[in-house]
Amino acid sequence: MRVCYLLGYPVGHSMSAVMHNAAFEELGLEYRYNLRGVSPAKLGTFMTGEMRDQAVGGANVTIPHKVAVMEYLDEVDREALAIGAVNTIVNQDGSLKGYNTDGRGAIRALEDAYGELEDVKAVIVGAGGAARAIGYHLSTKARRITILNRTQSRAEELAAHLSSMPDCNASVEPASLRRSLLEEALKKADILINTTPVGMIPDVEGTPVDGSLIRPEILVFDTVYNPLRTRLLREAEEAGARTLSGLRMLVYQGAAAFKLWTGVEPPVELMYDAVTEVLGGEQG
Ligand SMILES: NC(=O)c1ccc[n+]([C@@H]2O[C@H](COP(=O)([O-])OP(=O)(O)OC[C@H]3O[C@@H](n4cnc5c(N)ncnc54)[C@H](OP(=O)(O)O)[C@@H]3O)[C@@H](O)[C@H]2O)c1
Repeated sequence: MRVCYLLGYPVGHSMSAVMHNAAFEELGLEYRYNLRGVSPAKLGTFMTGEMRDQAVGGANVTIPHKVAVMEYLDEVDREALAIGAVNTIVNQDGSLKGYNTDGRGAIRALEDAYGELEDVKAVIVGAGGAARAIGYHLSTKARRITILNRTQSRAEELAAHLSSMPDCNASVEPASLRRSLLEEALKKADILINTTPVGMIPDVEGTPVDGSLIRPEILVFDTVYNPLRTRLLREAEEAGARTLSGLRMLVYQGAAAFKLWTGVEPPVELMYDAVTEVLGGEQG
């Protein structure tokens, strides 16, 4: 039996164990997914010791370790290096390699919902880890990306970083998260992506974008998946826009990690149904 961990601090609220254990069981694989809370002070000891044990197949990495964990890895995949964060680790005979599956998961979810992303104009709200991962992949396809963030300097830093990437095809513009700037950016957008935690439980009445700014022509993607229908998505629906919750992204980034650990294609729809059931049965 091998174990895969969710490595974070704290880790009590995760849906990853639900979907991975359902998939391991369905395929009859000798794997188990466990939550593993490791404090920042104990990260080094864990990474140089237990994480390299033969019984450990790998890990997902979440807040606050996605960047800090990189210094303990033997190798970091090219995309994860470009994103600057790792969300998946594979343990191969005691050697640890880091990957980032968040961005690919998000792009796969967006392509399911929107279609081809070549030449789209996207607005990303937020400039943290999720925005970096999504922005990295989206910038290879989109025509224009506007990044609006509460702290303007982080939007500027991310826009400059994405623009400097050799595979970047988009013109990437930073802005601060102000109503007038959002309104301007959304007038020209095909897709709006929320990468902030605003609207996530317990702040379910929060929204990063006023519903009156949403046009019916756009697709609104909220990376938050708990609740499945955030206030942002409810108001987008009321405005006549198409919506996508963070659940597909969660499942697709998890499916990519599963494949890296086991070498086996996971049962994606079963994983999706397992999490949907726990989150209250409403499809996202
Ligand atoms: N569906 C999935 O699989 C998946 C995967 C990863 C993440 N996510 C979602 O993405 C969210 C962010 O994760 P992350 O790793 O990117 O976090 P992060 O690195 O901490 O970044 C958080 C971002 O949200 C902004 N923000 C936080 N609180 C805000 C507020 N009250 N008003 C406006 N902006 C605010 C921050 O702005 P400042 O720079 O001004 O602080 C920052 O840009 C998570 O909460 C989760 O819901 C979903």
